[in-house]
Amino acid sequence: DFMKKPTNEPILEYKKGSKERTALEEAIKKYSSKETVVPLRIGKEKINGKLDKRQPMPFDHKRTLAKFSYATKDQIKSAIEATKAAREDWEKKPLKERADIILHAADLCATKYRMALNATTMLGQAKNIIQAEIDAACELIDFLRFNAFFALQHEKYQPISTKISTNKMIFRGLEGFVAAIAPFNFTAIGGNLASAPALMGNTVLWKPSDTAVLSNYIIFEILEEAGIPPGVLNFLPSDGPVFGDTVTADSSLGAINFTGSVPTFKYLWRKVAENLDNYESFPRLVGECGGKNFHFVHKSADLDTVAAGTIRSAYEYQGQKCSAVSRMYVPESVWPKLREKIESIRKNIKMGDATDGSVFMSSVIDKKAFDRVKGYVEMAKNSSDFEVVAGGKCDDSKGYFVEPTIVQSKRPDSKLMTEEIFGPVLTVYSYPDKDTEKTLNSVKDATPYGLTGAVFSNDKEFLYKARDTLKDAVGNLYLNDKSTGSIVGQQPFGGSRMSGTNDKAGSPYYVLKWTSPQTIKETS
Ligand code: SER
Repeated sequence: DFMKKPTNEPILEYKKGSKERTALEEAIKKYSSKETVVPLRIGKEKINGKLDKRQPMPFDHKRTLAKFSYATKDQIKSAIEATKAAREDWEKKPLKERADIILHAADLCATKYRMALNATTMLGQAKNIIQAEIDAACELIDFLRFNAFFALQHEKYQPISTKISTNKMIFRGLEGFVAAIAPFNFTAIGGNLASAPALMGNTVLWKPSDTAVLSNYIIFEILEEAGIPPGVLNFLPSDGPVFGDTVTADSSLGAINFTGSVPTFKYLWRKVAENLDNYESFPRLVGECGGKNFHFVHKSADLDTVAAGTIRSAYEYQGQKCSAVSRMYVPESVWPKLREKIESIRKNIKMGDATDGSVFMSSVIDKKAFDRVKGYVEMAKNSSDFEVVAGGKCDDSKGYFVEPTIVQSKRPDSKLMTEEIFGPVLTVYSYPDKDTEKTLNSVKDATPYGLTGAVFSNDKEFLYKARDTLKDAVGNLYLNDKSTGSIVGQQPFGGSRMSGTNDKAGSPYYVLKWTSPQTIKETS
Protein backbone atom coordinates (compact mmCIF):
# COMPACT_ATOMS: atom_id res chain seq x y z
CA ASP A 1 0.00 0.00 0.00
CA PHE A 2 1.66 3.17 -1.27
CA MET A 3 -0.04 5.52 1.11
CA LYS A 4 0.64 3.56 4.24
CA LYS A 5 3.27 5.19 6.40
CA PRO A 6 6.22 2.81 6.67
CA THR A 7 7.52 1.62 10.01
CA ASN A 8 11.24 1.40 10.73
CA GLU A 9 12.82 -1.90 9.81
CA PRO A 10 13.27 -3.98 13.00
CA ILE A 11 16.87 -4.68 14.05
CA LEU A 12 17.77 -8.37 13.99
CA GLU A 13 19.79 -9.47 17.00
CA TYR A 14 22.02 -12.17 15.52
CA LYS A 15 22.10 -14.22 18.71
CA LYS A 16 24.50 -17.13 18.55
CA GLY A 17 22.86 -20.11 16.90
CA SER A 18 19.98 -18.05 15.48
CA LYS A 19 18.91 -18.53 11.87
CA GLU A 20 20.09 -15.04 10.94
CA ARG A 21 23.46 -15.53 12.63
CA THR A 22 24.07 -18.70 10.65
CA ALA A 23 23.09 -16.98 7.42
CA LEU A 24 25.36 -14.05 8.20
CA GLU A 25 28.27 -16.32 9.00
CA GLU A 26 27.82 -18.02 5.65
CA ALA A 27 27.86 -14.67 3.87
CA ILE A 28 31.00 -13.65 5.76
CA LYS A 29 32.66 -16.88 4.72
CA LYS A 30 31.64 -16.37 1.12
CA TYR A 31 33.04 -12.84 0.88
CA SER A 32 36.18 -13.70 2.89
CA SER A 33 37.14 -16.59 0.69
CA LYS A 34 37.88 -14.58 -2.45
CA GLU A 35 38.45 -11.08 -3.76
CA THR A 36 35.19 -9.97 -5.34
CA VAL A 37 35.51 -8.08 -8.60
CA VAL A 38 33.68 -4.76 -8.60
CA PRO A 39 33.21 -3.46 -12.13
CA LEU A 40 32.44 0.02 -13.41
CA ARG A 41 28.86 0.34 -14.56
CA ILE A 42 28.21 2.76 -17.38
CA GLY A 43 24.87 2.54 -19.16
CA LYS A 44 24.46 -1.06 -20.26
CA GLU A 45 28.16 -1.75 -19.89
CA LYS A 46 30.02 -3.64 -17.19
CA ILE A 47 33.73 -2.84 -17.32
CA ASN A 48 36.39 -4.52 -15.21
CA GLY A 49 39.41 -2.50 -16.39
CA LYS A 50 42.86 -3.12 -14.96
CA LEU A 51 41.58 -4.17 -11.52
CA ASP A 52 44.61 -2.57 -9.94
CA LYS A 53 42.81 -1.16 -6.89
CA ARG A 54 42.01 -3.09 -3.74
CA GLN A 55 39.53 -2.76 -0.92
CA PRO A 56 41.43 -4.14 2.07
CA MET A 57 39.99 -5.35 5.35
CA PRO A 58 40.96 -2.56 7.73
CA PHE A 59 41.43 -4.89 10.70
CA ASP A 60 43.72 -7.36 8.93
CA HIS A 61 46.45 -6.20 6.53
CA LYS A 62 46.77 -9.67 5.07
CA ARG A 63 43.24 -9.79 3.68
CA THR A 64 41.47 -7.94 0.92
CA LEU A 65 37.80 -7.95 0.11
CA ALA A 66 37.47 -6.64 -3.42
CA LYS A 67 39.35 -5.48 -6.48
CA PHE A 68 38.30 -2.72 -8.82
CA SER A 69 39.52 -0.05 -11.22
CA TYR A 70 39.16 3.70 -11.27
CA ALA A 71 37.03 5.20 -13.99
CA THR A 72 39.05 7.34 -16.38
CA LYS A 73 38.03 10.84 -17.31
CA ASP A 74 36.63 9.53 -20.61
CA GLN A 75 34.63 6.85 -18.83
CA ILE A 76 33.14 9.44 -16.50
CA LYS A 77 32.20 11.47 -19.57
CA SER A 78 30.58 8.49 -21.25
CA ALA A 79 28.64 7.85 -18.05
CA ILE A 80 27.32 11.42 -18.33
CA GLU A 81 26.20 10.56 -21.88
CA ALA A 82 24.54 7.43 -20.50
CA THR A 83 22.57 9.52 -17.98
CA LYS A 84 21.29 11.66 -20.85
CA ALA A 85 20.24 8.65 -22.92
CA ALA A 86 18.37 7.09 -20.00
CA ARG A 87 16.80 10.27 -18.76
CA GLU A 88 13.65 10.70 -20.86
CA ASP A 89 12.15 7.23 -20.42
CA TRP A 90 12.94 7.16 -16.74
CA GLU A 91 11.52 10.57 -15.96
CA LYS A 92 8.40 9.84 -18.04
CA LYS A 93 7.45 6.99 -15.76
CA PRO A 94 4.85 8.00 -13.17
CA LEU A 95 6.38 8.60 -9.74
CA LYS A 96 4.37 5.63 -8.51
CA GLU A 97 6.20 3.30 -10.86
CA ARG A 98 9.60 4.57 -9.82
CA ALA A 99 8.57 4.35 -6.17
CA ASP A 100 7.49 0.78 -6.75
CA ILE A 101 10.99 -0.10 -7.95
CA ILE A 102 12.55 1.59 -4.91
CA LEU A 103 10.18 -0.28 -2.59
CA HIS A 104 10.99 -3.53 -4.31
CA ALA A 105 14.69 -2.78 -3.74
CA ALA A 106 13.95 -2.16 -0.05
CA ASP A 107 12.34 -5.57 0.20
CA LEU A 108 15.32 -7.21 -1.49
CA CYS A 109 17.63 -5.48 1.03
CA ALA A 110 15.49 -6.74 3.88
CA THR A 111 15.48 -10.34 2.68
CA LYS A 112 17.63 -11.86 -0.08
CA TYR A 113 20.58 -9.44 0.24
CA ARG A 114 20.52 -8.48 3.91
CA MET A 115 23.42 -10.75 4.80
CA ALA A 116 25.49 -9.71 1.78
CA LEU A 117 25.06 -6.05 2.74
CA ASN A 118 25.98 -6.73 6.34
CA ALA A 119 28.88 -9.07 5.63
CA THR A 120 30.55 -6.70 3.16
CA THR A 121 30.04 -3.75 5.50
CA MET A 122 31.64 -5.71 8.33
CA LEU A 123 34.56 -7.01 6.28
CA GLY A 124 35.27 -3.90 4.24
CA GLN A 125 34.33 -1.07 6.57
CA ALA A 126 35.12 -2.79 9.88
CA LYS A 127 31.69 -2.53 11.47
CA ASN A 128 30.64 -5.07 14.07
CA ILE A 129 27.44 -7.06 13.57
CA ILE A 130 25.05 -4.61 15.18
CA GLN A 131 26.70 -1.55 13.67
CA ALA A 132 26.39 -3.18 10.24
CA GLU A 133 22.77 -4.23 10.82
CA ILE A 134 21.60 -0.76 11.88
CA ASP A 135 23.35 0.77 8.87
CA ALA A 136 23.58 -1.53 5.84
CA ALA A 137 20.25 -3.20 6.57
CA CYS A 138 17.86 -1.08 8.65
CA GLU A 139 18.87 2.48 7.76
CA LEU A 140 19.21 1.65 4.08
CA ILE A 141 15.81 -0.05 3.98
CA ASP A 142 14.28 2.87 5.88
CA PHE A 143 15.73 5.46 3.50
CA LEU A 144 14.26 3.62 0.51
CA ARG A 145 10.82 3.13 2.04
CA PHE A 146 10.43 6.53 3.66
CA ASN A 147 11.67 8.43 0.60
CA ALA A 148 9.14 6.62 -1.58
CA PHE A 149 6.38 7.35 0.93
CA PHE A 150 7.29 11.02 1.36
CA ALA A 151 7.55 11.59 -2.40
CA LEU A 152 4.09 10.13 -3.00
CA GLN A 153 2.67 12.27 -0.20
CA HIS A 154 4.14 15.40 -1.77
CA GLU A 155 2.68 14.50 -5.13
CA LYS A 156 -0.77 14.19 -3.59
CA TYR A 157 -0.49 17.66 -2.15
CA GLN A 158 -1.56 19.88 -5.05
CA PRO A 159 -2.07 23.63 -5.30
CA ILE A 160 -5.54 25.19 -5.02
CA SER A 161 -7.81 25.24 -8.05
CA THR A 162 -10.66 27.73 -8.44
CA LYS A 163 -13.70 28.13 -10.66
CA ILE A 164 -11.58 29.85 -13.28
CA SER A 165 -8.33 27.93 -13.07
CA THR A 166 -7.18 24.38 -12.61
CA ASN A 167 -3.71 24.40 -11.04
CA LYS A 168 -1.28 21.56 -10.92
CA MET A 169 2.28 21.03 -9.91
CA ILE A 170 4.19 18.18 -11.44
CA PHE A 171 7.49 16.78 -10.31
CA ARG A 172 10.29 16.66 -12.82
CA GLY A 173 13.89 15.73 -12.21
CA LEU A 174 16.53 18.44 -12.09
CA GLU A 175 17.76 19.93 -15.35
CA GLY A 176 20.89 17.77 -15.50
CA PHE A 177 22.52 14.68 -14.02
CA VAL A 178 23.21 14.19 -10.32
CA ALA A 179 26.71 13.35 -9.05
CA ALA A 180 26.39 11.30 -5.87
CA ILE A 181 29.65 11.18 -3.91
CA ALA A 182 29.44 8.70 -1.06
CA PRO A 183 31.36 8.21 2.19
CA PHE A 184 32.77 5.01 3.71
CA ASN A 185 31.23 5.32 7.13
CA PHE A 186 27.61 4.49 6.37
CA THR A 187 26.67 2.01 3.66
CA ALA A 188 23.12 3.35 3.84
CA ILE A 189 24.25 6.88 3.01
CA GLY A 190 25.70 5.76 -0.34
CA GLY A 191 22.40 4.09 -1.13
CA ASN A 192 20.44 7.17 -0.16
CA LEU A 193 22.65 9.63 -2.04
CA ALA A 194 22.10 7.76 -5.30
CA SER A 195 18.58 6.36 -4.95
CA ALA A 196 16.72 9.45 -3.71
CA PRO A 197 17.55 11.52 -6.82
CA ALA A 198 16.73 8.49 -9.01
CA LEU A 199 13.36 8.13 -7.29
CA MET A 200 12.52 11.70 -8.31
CA GLY A 201 13.30 11.05 -11.98
CA ASN A 202 16.98 11.95 -12.12
CA THR A 203 19.84 10.00 -13.59
CA VAL A 204 22.95 9.60 -11.51
CA LEU A 205 26.72 9.15 -11.45
CA TRP A 206 27.54 7.28 -8.25
CA LYS A 207 31.07 7.54 -6.92
CA PRO A 208 31.53 5.20 -3.97
CA SER A 209 34.32 5.61 -1.46
CA ASP A 210 37.35 3.37 -2.20
CA THR A 211 36.92 1.87 1.25
CA ALA A 212 33.23 1.00 0.79
CA VAL A 213 33.26 -0.10 -2.83
CA LEU A 214 31.78 -3.55 -2.40
CA SER A 215 28.85 -2.78 -0.09
CA ASN A 216 27.90 0.15 -2.33
CA TYR A 217 28.11 -2.02 -5.43
CA ILE A 218 25.79 -4.57 -3.87
CA ILE A 219 23.22 -1.79 -3.39
CA PHE A 220 23.69 -0.84 -7.04
CA GLU A 221 23.00 -4.43 -8.08
CA ILE A 222 19.93 -4.61 -5.83
CA LEU A 223 18.50 -1.46 -7.39
CA GLU A 224 19.21 -2.94 -10.81
CA GLU A 225 17.49 -6.20 -9.94
CA ALA A 226 14.54 -4.23 -8.60
CA GLY A 227 14.08 -2.69 -12.03
CA ILE A 228 16.14 0.50 -12.37
CA PRO A 229 16.98 0.63 -16.10
CA PRO A 230 20.56 0.90 -17.42
CA GLY A 231 22.02 4.40 -17.40
CA VAL A 232 19.78 5.70 -14.61
CA LEU A 233 22.47 4.79 -12.11
CA ASN A 234 26.10 4.58 -13.19
CA PHE A 235 28.66 3.18 -10.78
CA LEU A 236 32.08 4.81 -10.93
CA PRO A 237 34.81 4.17 -8.39
CA SER A 238 37.20 7.01 -9.21
CA ASP A 239 40.06 9.16 -8.12
CA GLY A 240 38.41 11.96 -6.13
CA PRO A 241 39.77 15.01 -7.99
CA VAL A 242 39.37 13.36 -11.41
CA PHE A 243 35.73 12.64 -10.68
CA GLY A 244 35.06 16.02 -9.08
CA ASP A 245 36.79 17.99 -11.84
CA THR A 246 35.06 16.05 -14.62
CA VAL A 247 31.52 16.30 -13.30
CA THR A 248 31.83 19.96 -12.34
CA ALA A 249 33.27 20.81 -15.78
CA ASP A 250 30.20 19.39 -17.53
CA SER A 251 27.56 21.89 -18.61
CA SER A 252 24.74 19.51 -17.68
CA LEU A 253 25.63 19.09 -14.01
CA GLY A 254 22.31 19.27 -12.16
CA ALA A 255 23.40 18.59 -8.61
CA ILE A 256 26.05 17.24 -6.32
CA ASN A 257 24.85 15.02 -3.51
CA PHE A 258 27.82 14.74 -1.23
CA THR A 259 28.76 13.23 2.10
CA GLY A 260 32.36 13.56 3.23
CA SER A 261 34.84 16.09 4.53
CA VAL A 262 34.52 19.87 4.68
CA PRO A 263 37.63 20.49 2.52
CA THR A 264 36.32 18.20 -0.23
CA PHE A 265 32.90 19.85 -0.21
CA LYS A 266 34.54 23.28 -0.40
CA TYR A 267 36.68 22.04 -3.28
CA LEU A 268 33.59 20.95 -5.19
CA TRP A 269 31.77 24.18 -4.40
CA ARG A 270 34.73 26.21 -5.73
CA LYS A 271 34.81 24.11 -8.90
CA VAL A 272 31.11 24.77 -9.43
CA ALA A 273 31.72 28.50 -8.97
CA GLU A 274 34.55 28.41 -11.53
CA ASN A 275 32.27 26.75 -14.06
CA LEU A 276 29.15 28.77 -13.32
CA ASP A 277 28.98 30.47 -16.71
CA ASN A 278 28.96 27.12 -18.51
CA TYR A 279 26.00 25.50 -16.80
CA GLU A 280 22.54 25.04 -18.22
CA SER A 281 21.04 25.39 -14.73
CA PHE A 282 22.23 26.27 -11.24
CA PRO A 283 23.55 23.01 -9.82
CA ARG A 284 22.09 22.11 -6.45
CA LEU A 285 24.74 21.43 -3.88
CA VAL A 286 23.78 19.18 -1.01
CA GLY A 287 26.53 18.36 1.44
CA GLU A 288 26.81 16.50 4.69
CA CYS A 289 30.24 17.19 6.17
CA GLY A 290 32.21 16.89 9.35
CA GLY A 291 31.54 17.80 12.91
CA LYS A 292 32.99 18.36 16.35
CA ASN A 293 30.05 17.03 18.25
CA PHE A 294 29.63 17.74 21.94
CA HIS A 295 28.13 16.29 25.08
CA PHE A 296 27.39 19.05 27.58
CA VAL A 297 26.91 17.71 31.10
CA HIS A 298 25.07 19.66 33.78
CA LYS A 299 25.76 18.92 37.45
CA SER A 300 22.21 17.54 37.82
CA ALA A 301 22.70 14.92 35.09
CA ASP A 302 22.25 11.22 35.68
CA LEU A 303 25.85 10.08 35.42
CA ASP A 304 25.09 6.48 34.46
CA THR A 305 23.10 7.76 31.48
CA VAL A 306 25.94 10.10 30.53
CA ALA A 307 28.58 7.39 30.86
CA ALA A 308 26.69 4.79 28.81
CA GLY A 309 25.72 7.30 26.13
CA THR A 310 29.21 8.75 25.92
CA ILE A 311 30.85 5.35 25.54
CA ARG A 312 28.48 4.50 22.70
CA SER A 313 28.71 7.86 20.97
CA ALA A 314 32.49 8.21 21.24
CA TYR A 315 33.54 4.64 20.51
CA GLU A 316 30.88 2.80 18.51
CA TYR A 317 32.25 2.30 15.03
CA GLN A 318 35.58 3.59 16.33
CA GLY A 319 34.32 7.16 16.55
CA GLN A 320 33.84 7.33 12.79
CA LYS A 321 30.16 8.25 12.72
CA CYS A 322 29.94 11.84 11.61
CA SER A 323 27.72 12.33 14.66
CA ALA A 324 30.18 10.81 17.19
CA VAL A 325 30.86 12.85 20.31
CA SER A 326 34.43 14.08 20.47
CA ARG A 327 34.33 16.96 22.95
CA MET A 328 32.66 16.82 26.32
CA TYR A 329 32.06 19.54 28.89
CA VAL A 330 31.74 18.32 32.47
CA PRO A 331 31.45 20.30 35.71
CA GLU A 332 34.49 19.92 37.98
CA SER A 333 32.28 18.69 40.81
CA VAL A 334 31.11 15.62 38.89
CA TRP A 335 34.07 14.84 36.64
CA PRO A 336 35.92 12.48 39.04
CA LYS A 337 32.80 10.36 39.48
CA LEU A 338 31.86 10.43 35.81
CA ARG A 339 35.41 9.65 34.81
CA GLU A 340 35.32 6.56 36.99
CA LYS A 341 32.02 5.42 35.50
CA ILE A 342 33.19 5.92 31.92
CA GLU A 343 36.49 4.20 32.65
CA SER A 344 34.82 1.20 34.24
CA ILE A 345 33.01 0.54 30.94
CA ARG A 346 35.83 1.65 28.65
CA LYS A 347 38.47 -0.63 30.12
CA ASN A 348 36.37 -3.69 29.26
CA ILE A 349 35.80 -2.76 25.63
CA LYS A 350 36.79 -5.61 23.39
CA MET A 351 38.55 -4.79 20.13
CA GLY A 352 39.35 -7.00 17.20
CA ASP A 353 38.22 -8.55 13.94
CA ALA A 354 34.91 -6.91 13.02
CA THR A 355 33.33 -10.28 12.25
CA ASP A 356 34.03 -11.61 15.75
CA GLY A 357 30.55 -11.43 17.26
CA SER A 358 31.87 -10.39 20.67
CA VAL A 359 33.81 -7.26 19.71
CA PHE A 360 32.51 -3.79 20.45
CA MET A 361 35.20 -2.01 18.41
CA SER A 362 37.33 -2.87 15.42
CA SER A 363 39.96 -0.83 13.57
CA VAL A 364 39.73 2.58 11.97
CA ILE A 365 39.23 2.58 8.22
CA ASP A 366 42.70 3.03 6.69
CA LYS A 367 46.25 4.25 7.07
CA LYS A 368 45.35 7.87 6.52
CA ALA A 369 42.79 7.69 9.32
CA PHE A 370 45.19 5.81 11.57
CA ASP A 371 47.97 8.36 11.05
CA ARG A 372 45.65 11.28 11.65
CA VAL A 373 44.17 9.85 14.86
CA LYS A 374 47.57 8.75 16.09
CA GLY A 375 48.87 12.26 15.44
CA TYR A 376 46.23 13.69 17.77
CA VAL A 377 46.98 11.07 20.42
CA GLU A 378 50.69 11.92 20.19
CA MET A 379 49.85 15.61 20.49
CA ALA A 380 47.90 14.84 23.65
CA LYS A 381 50.81 12.87 25.08
CA ASN A 382 53.38 15.54 24.29
CA SER A 383 51.62 18.76 25.19
CA SER A 384 51.11 20.21 28.64
CA ASP A 385 47.62 21.24 27.55
CA PHE A 386 46.48 17.63 27.87
CA GLU A 387 46.46 14.59 30.05
CA VAL A 388 45.77 11.20 28.50
CA VAL A 389 43.36 9.78 31.05
CA ALA A 390 42.94 6.35 29.50
CA GLY A 391 43.77 4.40 26.36
CA GLY A 392 46.09 6.01 23.85
CA LYS A 393 47.61 2.93 22.30
CA CYS A 394 47.76 2.92 18.50
CA ASP A 395 48.87 -0.31 16.90
CA ASP A 396 48.88 -0.92 13.16
CA SER A 397 50.84 -4.17 13.16
CA LYS A 398 47.81 -6.31 12.26
CA GLY A 399 45.15 -3.73 11.37
CA TYR A 400 44.57 -0.06 12.06
CA PHE A 401 43.71 -0.31 15.74
CA VAL A 402 43.34 2.68 18.04
CA GLU A 403 42.36 2.11 21.65
CA PRO A 404 39.30 3.95 22.94
CA THR A 405 41.00 7.01 24.37
CA ILE A 406 40.06 9.70 26.88
CA VAL A 407 42.02 12.92 26.92
CA GLN A 408 41.49 15.72 29.40
CA SER A 409 42.11 19.18 28.06
CA LYS A 410 43.11 21.98 30.39
CA ARG A 411 41.71 24.55 28.04
CA PRO A 412 38.33 24.59 26.25
CA ASP A 413 39.95 25.98 23.09
CA SER A 414 42.75 23.45 22.59
CA LYS A 415 43.22 21.62 19.30
CA LEU A 416 41.70 18.38 20.56
CA MET A 417 38.64 20.28 21.79
CA THR A 418 38.10 22.05 18.48
CA GLU A 419 39.45 19.99 15.55
CA GLU A 420 37.67 17.02 14.00
CA ILE A 421 39.62 13.83 14.78
CA PHE A 422 37.21 11.22 13.37
CA GLY A 423 38.41 8.40 15.56
CA PRO A 424 37.90 6.92 19.03
CA VAL A 425 39.30 9.88 20.97
CA LEU A 426 37.10 11.70 23.47
CA THR A 427 38.39 15.02 24.76
CA VAL A 428 36.99 16.32 28.02
CA TYR A 429 37.09 19.83 29.40
CA SER A 430 36.10 20.00 33.01
CA TYR A 431 34.67 23.44 33.73
CA PRO A 432 34.34 25.23 37.07
CA ASP A 433 30.74 24.77 38.27
CA LYS A 434 30.34 28.50 38.68
CA ASP A 435 31.10 28.94 34.95
CA THR A 436 28.28 26.66 33.78
CA GLU A 437 26.49 29.36 31.86
CA LYS A 438 29.63 30.91 30.43
CA THR A 439 30.80 27.50 29.23
CA LEU A 440 27.44 26.68 27.68
CA ASN A 441 27.48 30.01 25.87
CA SER A 442 30.89 29.21 24.39
CA VAL A 443 29.98 25.80 22.94
CA LYS A 444 28.64 27.02 19.60
CA ASP A 445 31.49 29.30 18.60
CA ALA A 446 34.22 27.00 19.85
CA THR A 447 34.20 25.37 16.39
CA PRO A 448 32.87 26.24 12.94
CA TYR A 449 30.91 22.96 12.83
CA GLY A 450 27.22 22.43 13.55
CA LEU A 451 26.37 18.75 13.25
CA THR A 452 25.22 17.17 16.52
CA GLY A 453 25.32 17.86 20.22
CA ALA A 454 23.75 16.64 23.42
CA VAL A 455 22.83 18.13 26.77
CA PHE A 456 22.45 15.98 29.85
CA SER A 457 20.54 17.49 32.76
CA ASN A 458 17.86 16.42 35.22
CA ASP A 459 17.17 20.07 35.90
CA LYS A 460 14.51 20.72 33.26
CA GLU A 461 14.85 24.46 33.55
CA PHE A 462 18.52 24.24 32.69
CA LEU A 463 17.84 21.67 29.97
CA TYR A 464 15.45 23.95 28.12
CA LYS A 465 17.63 26.98 28.64
CA ALA A 466 20.48 25.02 27.08
CA ARG A 467 18.21 23.96 24.22
CA ASP A 468 17.42 27.61 23.50
CA THR A 469 21.04 28.70 23.86
CA LEU A 470 22.10 26.03 21.37
CA LYS A 471 19.35 26.77 18.84
CA ASP A 472 21.83 27.78 16.15
CA ALA A 473 24.67 25.54 17.23
CA VAL A 474 23.80 22.21 15.60
CA GLY A 475 21.41 20.57 13.16
CA ASN A 476 20.66 17.69 15.53
CA LEU A 477 20.34 18.38 19.24
CA TYR A 478 19.76 15.61 21.78
CA LEU A 479 18.35 16.18 25.25
CA ASN A 480 19.41 13.49 27.71
CA ASP A 481 20.56 11.20 24.95
CA LYS A 482 23.84 10.64 23.10
CA SER A 483 24.71 12.58 19.95
CA THR A 484 24.53 9.59 17.57
CA GLY A 485 21.91 7.16 16.31
CA SER A 486 19.38 9.21 14.38
CA ILE A 487 16.62 7.05 12.89
CA VAL A 488 15.06 7.68 9.48
CA GLY A 489 11.67 9.32 9.83
CA GLN A 490 12.18 9.93 13.56
CA GLN A 491 15.20 12.23 13.77
CA PRO A 492 15.81 13.78 10.36
CA PHE A 493 19.57 14.17 10.14
CA GLY A 494 21.79 17.00 8.97
CA GLY A 495 24.26 19.58 10.15
CA SER A 496 24.21 23.34 9.92
CA ARG A 497 27.05 25.86 9.63
CA MET A 498 30.24 24.25 8.23
CA SER A 499 28.80 20.77 8.77
CA GLY A 500 26.72 20.97 5.64
CA THR A 501 23.69 22.29 3.86
CA ASN A 502 21.35 20.69 6.40
CA ASP A 503 18.93 19.12 3.94
CA LYS A 504 17.87 16.53 6.49
CA ALA A 505 18.19 13.02 5.18
CA GLY A 506 15.38 10.87 6.52
CA SER A 507 12.89 13.74 6.46
CA PRO A 508 9.99 14.55 4.11
CA TYR A 509 12.00 17.51 2.74
CA TYR A 510 14.93 15.50 1.44
CA VAL A 511 13.31 14.18 -1.74
CA LEU A 512 12.27 17.73 -2.69
CA LYS A 513 15.92 18.61 -3.26
CA TRP A 514 15.85 16.30 -6.28
CA THR A 515 12.99 17.83 -8.18
CA SER A 516 12.50 20.94 -10.27
CA PRO A 517 8.71 21.08 -10.32
CA GLN A 518 6.58 22.64 -13.02
CA THR A 519 3.41 24.55 -12.16
CA ILE A 520 0.63 24.40 -14.76
CA LYS A 521 -2.35 26.74 -14.72
CA GLU A 522 -5.22 25.93 -17.08
CA THR A 523 -7.98 28.47 -17.44
CA SER A 524 -11.44 27.10 -18.00
N1 SER B 1 22.76 9.10 11.15
C1 SER B 1 23.96 8.78 11.85
C2 SER B 1 23.85 8.99 13.31
O1 SER B 1 22.99 9.72 13.73
C3 SER B 1 25.13 9.59 11.37
O2 SER B 1 25.26 9.62 10.00
O3 SER B 1 24.64 8.49 14.03
